[in-house]
Amino acid sequence: MAYVSLYRKYRPQTFAEVVGQDHVTTTLSNALTENRLHHAYLFTGPRGTGKTSAARILAKALNCERGPTATPCNVCPSCVGITAGNNVDVIEIDAASHGGVDDVRDLRDRVAFAPAAARMKVYIVDECHMLSTAGWNAFLKTVEEPPGHVLFVFATTEPHKVLDTILSRTQRFDFKRVGSPALGGLVADVAEREGLELEPGVVDLVVRAGDGSARDTLSVLDQIMAFTGLKVTLQGVVDVLGAVPDELLIETADLIAAGDVAGLLVLVQRLGDAGRDLRQFARDAVEHLRSLLLLQVAPDAGLVETTPDRLARLTAQAGRLGRVELLRAVELLAECQAVMRRGNTRLPLEIALAKAAMPEASGDPAALAARMDRLERRGGVGRPPPPVTPVAEVPASEEVTVPDPAPVRSTTAETAPPTGAGVDIDLVRRSWDAVLAAAKRRSLKLGAMLASGQPVDLTDSRLTLRFTYPFHAEFCGSDTSRATLGQILDEVLGVPLDIVCVVVDGGAGSPRTDDTAASEADDVAETELAEAAGELPDEAEAHARAIATLTRDLGATVVE
Ligand SMILES: Nc1ncnc2c1ncn2[C@@H]1O[C@H](COP(=O)(O)OP(=O)(O)OP(=O)(O)O)[C@@H](O)[C@H]1O
Ligand SMILES: [Mg+2]
Ligand SMILES: [Zn+2]
Repeated sequence: MAYVSLYRKYRPQTFAEVVGQDHVTTTLSNALTENRLHHAYLFTGPRGTGKTSAARILAKALNCERGPTATPCNVCPSCVGITAGNNVDVIEIDAASHGGVDDVRDLRDRVAFAPAAARMKVYIVDECHMLSTAGWNAFLKTVEEPPGHVLFVFATTEPHKVLDTILSRTQRFDFKRVGSPALGGLVADVAEREGLELEPGVVDLVVRAGDGSARDTLSVLDQIMAFTGLKVTLQGVVDVLGAVPDELLIETADLIAAGDVAGLLVLVQRLGDAGRDLRQFARDAVEHLRSLLLLQVAPDAGLVETTPDRLARLTAQAGRLGRVELLRAVELLAECQAVMRRGNTRLPLEIALAKAAMPEASGDPAALAARMDRLERRGGVGRPPPPVTPVAEVPASEEVTVPDPAPVRSTTAETAPPTGAGVDIDLVRRSWDAVLAAAKRRSLKLGAMLASGQPVDLTDSRLTLRFTYPFHAEFCGSDTSRATLGQILDEVLGVPLDIVCVVVDGGAGSPRTDDTAASEADDVAETELAEAAGELPDEAEAHARAIATLTRDLGATVVE
């Protein structure tokens, strides 16, 4: 005999066997008992949740020789015929393949004929969202005023695609994803009837893999049976599904709680070595941590749907973990899932787990800046040493420091931070790239202008900058620029210096102030900006490199 898949073999044949849809089965049973059935129903809901099954049971209930009844006998010729799919009065139409207007016209014409043997003709229109508009229109009249001997059941996974005119003429039942306890019961029941021996934990894994669909859940069980035979071990299931056993998830949460970064990285390594799907692991880990969080926050609210066994284990672990810790871990891993979808899986997972285990590695700028400093001292970022002579070019990596003035100071002060007394022109020169970077951060234009100047003298807190072009000198020498530069020098060098701008080459020898000079300055400023923009590809690359380092080594998060 050909093998019949479990989900066919165990299609529910009575309303009582339809699990997890009590709101539907109870209402239909009552309507049958009280003889107040509608003539058109719409069954909506996810795939494999019992829509077609319920429609067939309804047909049996109406036509059972011992009926109409809410509990069809399943042995009379009518019931048996419907179960076998050869009852002429129960017509199933797959709208996906027969949604055209001709099919519907044909159907409509046949609706007029009385049932051959049964009380009622039942039309089950599956995937009814696939009916063409013309098809629906052909239906409308019949659905509006069907002959007394006709009942329609429309079924769809996509109710939003069903025409309003049909929606308003049908009684609608929304089938739900089947909850874990109900699915767990179904699996246990089918296993028993099949003579399967399930190791503890197997039901949980199967249910998790079924993801709310009874059909998928039974298909998973089928797949496992084919692989393991009648004795189903946890390891066998893990192998078939590539699933993550609960023990591993519990271990993960414990490692996070213990702050055991090394343990977590080893765990990821183990998963990788075993060829596990890391995305699946991340999904399961998020689900696990979320369950723990729910159990922490509202232990008695019944928010975690699972088998009693597993609930006990989860509750025990939830008691060992902190709420904030859990919330953070859930957040980190959920974010990480999004990153993993885009490609690389291992690195983001490792980062997320490490961060979850090290709250102190949070991305707040102060902590980050401190870490950045430490790393730079060790040469971790690969930043070139500051140039000894002042150069007009801004090292790209300067642009990546966190948006906080503090790191500027520290990146220039490879040595001790200079005090006012210790500042001389050499120090200014060595620090110049940091000054430029800071200036550029404040204003691209100021940065560009200042880049063409050179610090040449420092006497009595007056820093002389030499320019070639008067308009650069003029711009930098303006009151506003001088004030800004004063602040920047204070930040970088620890002393507020006053700026004096001189022009050494190229013309009048002193800043011009007429309109020509001003517009000339604007023109050149634009050129400079364009030049600065020309450097961007390199900068962007360095930026990306530094960001990668930050996120990889420091656990930084990118703040938009
Ligand atoms: N609520 C349920 N209780 C028990 N078994 C179910 C349930 N829902 C689905 N099944 C199982 O899944 C199989 C398919 O169910 P059914 O055809 O009724 O799903 P459906 O909701 O019509 O799905 P689709 O949207 O894919 O047509 C059934 O034969 C049965 O084994
Ligand atoms: Mg169906
Ligand atoms: Zn019957």
